[in-house]
Amino acid sequence: MAATLKFNQNGKFRILLMGDPHEYYTPSRGVDKRTKDFLVLENMAIDELQPDLVVYMGDNTHADTPQALRASVERITRPITGRNLPLGIVFGNHDFEAKVSDPWEYINAYRAYENSLFPAKDDALSGRYDYHAVIRSSDGSRDAFNLWFMYSGNRAPKESCSKYDYVRPEQIEWYEKTAARLKADNGGTPVPAILFQHIPVPEEYELFDEVPAWRLPFDALRGQDERDNKCYKLKKGVAGFAGEAPCAPSVNSGQFDSWLRTGDVKAAFFGHDHMNDFAGDVRGITLGQCKLSGFHPYGDGTRQGVRVIDLDESAPDRFVTYMRYYRELVGDRCQSITGPERLMHDRTSMTLEFCLKAFGTAAAAAALGAAGAAVSHKIKKLKQ
Ligand SMILES: [Fe+2]
Ligand SMILES: [Fe+2]
Repeated sequence: MAATLKFNQNGKFRILLMGDPHEYYTPSRGVDKRTKDFLVLENMAIDELQPDLVVYMGDNTHADTPQALRASVERITRPITGRNLPLGIVFGNHDFEAKVSDPWEYINAYRAYENSLFPAKDDALSGRYDYHAVIRSSDGSRDAFNLWFMYSGNRAPKESCSKYDYVRPEQIEWYEKTAARLKADNGGTPVPAILFQHIPVPEEYELFDEVPAWRLPFDALRGQDERDNKCYKLKKGVAGFAGEAPCAPSVNSGQFDSWLRTGDVKAAFFGHDHMNDFAGDVRGITLGQCKLSGFHPYGDGTRQGVRVIDLDESAPDRFVTYMRYYRELVGDRCQSITGPERLMHDRTSMTLEFCLKAFGTAAAAAALGAAGAAVSHKIKKLKQ
């Protein structure tokens, strides 16, 4: 049976997002230091933030045998299962890439946990593993809020059109039909909703200004895919940080327009872009990133973090969201990142990447040394 969600007696509900764990567990090799660091962050975040629901934002686990998959899921979700917290999952482009590639193996591995939000019946999911979960009002009388969990695929069917996949028309149709049913059950008013998905929608670029290429080493980012001949910078007033331009699909399947038409989605949050944690308004809908919480993939030093979303039953349009970083929750030391890169901050890693591409290893090493010394000095000062 899937978990049931309900606003607390004070009308609040807190969601904790964890981005891109990228857990790859081989039983014969034991537990990796990087997994241990992820678990420390997960435990500390749950203890301090006391969420009512935890959501993994995709690229969660990949495994070569069904046994390794179940062990991997069991291991990284232990801080959640041990506290009997509800767990929501969206899948990312890497989840089904290893030898175990059947999505149902993954769904069933997470569904084995009785407080998972995956519907108990297979036909309650769309044909592409999308599902939703309502949050009941604090008095239990109505559906007060809704959460969408959408699958954004892996690579696009035709690489010439787009590198990354996108939510397909039949998924949009499933979303619209399901939202219409919820609206009818709610007396004709759309049930306010937040949507979770791994790969961002192309409309995230509306949070950026296009800027000249000479700004690349300073504060600009090269566009991705079809936009790689353009440079971008986050617009003034958009909260958070962009360490890379959105890796959105080049094909726009109309998903964002569907949200506008349907009128229920107040915000959509994404993973996939490990160094992005901005959130801003696009035509009345908040688009936000949760940067990575895992330590396995590329990132930027120990700037891993988690995102908090606080819902208020009496004001569903006015949710609050913010990031909490590993350094705030745990500190500046971890087991898997021990070199100077643990002192890096977002801008340092971008400058480093630019130096590597433009001038080679020596220049990058010099930049890293200078940045590491500067950050080390700053941390010392903060601790004084
Ligand atoms: Fe990822
Ligand atoms: Fe991804």
